[in-house]
Amino acid sequence: MKVLGIETSCDECSAAVVADGEKILSNIIATQVPYHAPWSGVVPEIASRKHTEWIYSVVKEAIEKSGLTVKDINAVAVTNRPGLMGSLLVGLSFAKAFAWASNIPFIAVDHMLAHLYAPRLIGSEQLTMSNGDRVGYPFLGLLVSGGHTIICRADDFDNITVLGTTIDDAVGEAFDKVAKFYNFGYPGGMIIDKMAQKGDNKAFRFPVPSLHKGDHRYDVSYSGLKNAVINQLDLFKVKADYTNEDIAASFQKTAVAILLRALLNAVEDTGLTTIVAGGGVAANSLLRAKLGEQKKLRCIFPPLELCGDNGAMIAGIGYHYLVRGEHSPLNTTPSARVTGFKKRYP
Ligand code: KG4
Ligand code: ZN
Repeated sequence: MKVLGIETSCDECSAAVVADGEKILSNIIATQVPYHAPWSGVVPEIASRKHTEWIYSVVKEAIEKSGLTVKDINAVAVTNRPGLMGSLLVGLSFAKAFAWASNIPFIAVDHMLAHLYAPRLIGSEQLTMSNGDRVGYPFLGLLVSGGHTIICRADDFDNITVLGTTIDDAVGEAFDKVAKFYNFGYPGGMIIDKMAQKGDNKAFRFPVPSLHKGDHRYDVSYSGLKNAVINQLDLFKVKADYTNEDIAASFQKTAVAILLRALLNAVEDTGLTTIVAGGGVAANSLLRAKLGEQKKLRCIFPPLELCGDNGAMIAGIGYHYLVRGEHSPLNTTPSARVTGFKKRYP
C-alpha cells in the first residue's frame, strides 16, 4: 500500500511516498530556513505563505521521485497537530483536496507520534536486531523538539502515556533562544551543537533544576537554564577568559544532563530499557553520545534526515491507521497542541 505523507506543521514543507509503512520511496523536505534566518526564529506568517507557495510542487516532486503516478497512491496522511495553525492548515487543506479528488482515504496524524515512529522506517537498521526481529513495544519515548519535551511510555504506535514533560520551555526552544540572544546564527540547535565541539564545557557551571521528587521525577525545566545563560553569565563563570564556544558547550552539557536525569529516572521506575528518541533535538551529538554510553540501555535514534519534521514519518504511521480501517473525516480541523496522549504517573 502506497501512502502519500504531508508535513507542514512548522517551517519544513515536506511530502513523501512510503510503501507499506516502512519503505521510503521518496521524501522531499523543502526547508524555509533562509526565509526565517533574518529573524533568528520561525515567523508564522512567512511559514504559512511559503507552504502555500510550495506545497503543490513539493507533493508533485514526491510523487515523481517515487516512480509512481497519482493513480498509484492509495491514501493520504497529513499532520493536523501539533504545530503552527496557519502552517498546519496549508498541508491539511491540500491533503483533503488530494484525497477527495482521488477518492482515497484521508488520515490526520499527530506528528509527535510520527517522530517516535521515524526510526521504524527502513533505513533505520538499528531497529532490526541481529536475529532479524524488530524492536517491539513497549519502549520509552524521548520526544525532543522546538515545541515539546516529552518522556513517555509507548505501548503501540498511538498508545502513548506521558510520564514527564517540561514544566516551562521546550529543550529545543532553549537552544534556539540562547543562539538568538548571542547571535550565534539560525537554526540555533544545530549551530550550538557544532560550536560546542570546539568549546570547554567546564567554563560555566550552570544550574540544574531540582525536579527529582514525586510526580516531577520525569519532568524537566529549561527556563532557569535559559535565564542563567542569557542574563546571569557572570554568576556561573568558572573561567575568566571564555569564548562563545565555551558558552555553547557549557549550556549544551547542562541541557543534556537535565534530559538524561529525567529519562534515567523513568528507566529506573518502569524497568524499560529500550529508548526511542525523536524530534529535532534527537539530532544533538552530545545527547546521542551520552545515551550511547549507557550500556544497559538500547537507544534508538532516527537517522539525522528523519529527526526533524518530514513527510515520510507521517506516511509511515498513516499506514497503520489504514490497516486498522481507520480514516479521518474531511471536516477534520488542525490543533496547535498534542491531543490524545494519556498522562499517568506510575
Ligand atoms: O522536530 P523539529 O524539526 O520541529 C519542531 O519543533 O516540531 O525540531 C526543531 C528543533 C529546534 O529547536 C532546533 O534548534 C532543534 O530541533 N535542533 C537541535 C539540533 N538540530 C535541531 N537541537 C540541538 N542539537 C541539534 N543538533
Ligand atoms: Zn516536529
